[in-house]
Amino acid sequence: MMDTNIKHITVFTGAGISAESGLKTFRGHDGLWEGNRIEDVATPEAWQRNPELVQRFYNERRKSCLQAQPNAAHDALVKLSRYYDVDIITQNIDDLHERAGSVKVLHLHGEIVKSQSSLDPELVYPIEGDEIKMGDRCALGSQLRPHVVWFGETVPNMTRALQIVQYTDMLIMVGTSLQVYPAAQLVFETKRECKIVVIDPQANRHRIEGDVEYIDKNATEGVPYLVNLMTK
Ligand code: APR
Repeated sequence: MMDTNIKHITVFTGAGISAESGLKTFRGHDGLWEGNRIEDVATPEAWQRNPELVQRFYNERRKSCLQAQPNAAHDALVKLSRYYDVDIITQNIDDLHERAGSVKVLHLHGEIVKSQSSLDPELVYPIEGDEIKMGDRCALGSQLRPHVVWFGETVPNMTRALQIVQYTDMLIMVGTSLQVYPAAQLVFETKRECKIVVIDPQANRHRIEGDVEYIDKNATEGVPYLVNLMTK
């Protein structure tokens, strides 16, 4: 049912929303990310130690991402934005929200389809094709690296994310384990009357204080289900 008390909705998404598009979540049973230890591929130290390995790792992730298609959950969020003012805040580096047609998408951990200067993170470029090669350089001459936020780096879009969450009327969280700060902090920044809904097949593992509705379903089932209820 269309809820007239709700004007603005924030949808906070994690790896789980892209799982059914074929992109793996991070915290599987083995604790590895596609067979790699996180510290070997997703830290500034890893880049210092072995930039070729890091570049190869993200080139492979980028190819998988470009082959993947948005799923019914991404699509349902586009529908939701026809009825409410919707901001999506995502921890995902894939571009499936954009390819589904969502317009207001804030990436906390960067975007794999872009590159950035290894000296100045504000120099960001689209990637031609699907690879960054060693030797590809920014306008100022330094090596290009993936436009992703590594462990130990600051999250530049966090300030904007906090602003959004602080005035939103409803926060819908989809497919995130909330294990990584500062993103996990967002849920504590909502105003008191904000409605909170968690959609995740492991929703029972999330322990959030207050009046929270848990939808224990996969994203492709749970998100269309909620969106249909809210747009009737
Ligand atoms: N539908 C919905 N949720 C799902 C599905 C699915 N089909 N499959 C798995 N999930 C849920 C899991 O139950 C889990 O709660 O998605 C969540 C995935 O959690 P993580 O793998 O920890 O991913 P995420 O929370 O996005 O990780 C946050 O950590 O490694 C870093 O920077 C990386 O952005 C990432 C951040």
